[in-house]
Amino acid sequence: MKIFLIGFMGSGKSTVGVDLAHILGYRFIDLDEYIEQKHNLSIKLIFETKGEDYFRMIENETLKEVCSFEGDFVISSGGGTSCFYNNIDYMNRNGITVYLRAEVSTLVARLIESKVDRPLLWGKTKDELNEYIIRVLNERKKYYEKAQVIIDADNVNPKDLAQLIISTVNI
Ligand code: S3P
Repeated sequence: MKIFLIGFMGSGKSTVGVDLAHILGYRFIDLDEYIEQKHNLSIKLIFETKGEDYFRMIENETLKEVCSFEGDFVISSGGGTSCFYNNIDYMNRNGITVYLRAEVSTLVARLIESKVDRPLLWGKTKDELNEYIIRVLNERKKYYEKAQVIIDADNVNPKDLAQLIISTVNI
């Protein structure tokens, strides 16, 4: 079984993914980390030196590469992965997609703490971050909502969220 965690930046995909994979005894792959290792460059530097279009292209290529791996795994995708190159349809065909849905206020509170490592959020004040999240989430939600399973991820700790995913997906 291949489980794809999708959702906006700050929705908890990577943290929950580690716990979920651990509980299930599956391999865990963080797509952003895999891209960084493969290209020997941080996501930040890829955006800075090659631009977002290039990043989206290698993100699509890497998703396909990783999907060809044998065995069970949990993949934490990047926040934009589902929204480019029909990746959401590709993930839906290749496994189970789980959308970790979170409220704007939850995302703002988490992202204000970790925006330095996220090129799309650089230099934004709290108000700008709030506006950005409302706008981009609104554009992206049509992709996220194509997931086979939608889980409300506000106010749930990662371990409970992993258990909630297991019981909802019925693994
Ligand atoms: C992005 C989300 C990031 C990373 C890149 C672009 C996005 O992943 O892939 O900075 O477009 O939302 P996380 O969701 O893991 O932060």
